[in-house]
Amino acid sequence: MMKTIAVFASGTGSNFAALTEFFGDERRGVRIAMLVCDHKDAPVVAKAHAANVPVFTLNYRDYANKAAAEAAIVAALPPVDLVVLAGFMRILGPTMLAAFPQRIVNLHPALLPSFPGRTGIEDALAYGVRVTGVTVHYVDAGVDSGTIIAQEPVRVLPTDSFATLAPRIHQVEHILLPTTVAALLAD
Ligand code: GRF
Repeated sequence: MMKTIAVFASGTGSNFAALTEFFGDERRGVRIAMLVCDHKDAPVVAKAHAANVPVFTLNYRDYANKAAAEAAIVAALPPVDLVVLAGFMRILGPTMLAAFPQRIVNLHPALLPSFPGRTGIEDALAYGVRVTGVTVHYVDAGVDSGTIIAQEPVRVLPTDSFATLAPRIHQVEHILLPTTVAALLAD
């Protein structure tokens, strides 16, 4: 039977595009039922329109608090088997977590538990590790702290800068995220 996911993203949406391409093949048995975006003019919104994925955008400032904003998201979402955070730059609160217990995954551009937070690529470079990578994990109430599902290493060269390392991280993300989502939904 066809499974459905919702994707949450805030910005560029290269991982959203990787998901639409991978699951564009109907034989994979997964449909992207909605994009949720917290910036109505973000490039990811245009990518969703182009891929015929329904979009729900919201401005958190229009709501009294995070719980009210998340209640609006929960009300807008169709039934889905999994929520995929792909560059969604907000920490989820109890309203979202309670609506999808153990059914929300996040993509992180470092090998957790190293370098959590918004600047995982920069922090790995600044620390000087020679291996960093990509993590897909379940979302809990903490920051990038939930159970790890999948990881893939990326070597850091002594000559690397953000400009040279980030594209290699993203290449790995674009494969690891769709394949991990597919594997989770195949169980
Ligand atoms: C990715 O590096 C992801 O790991 C991080 O935010 C970035 C989103 O990139 N959480 P994009 O919008 O998918 O291009």
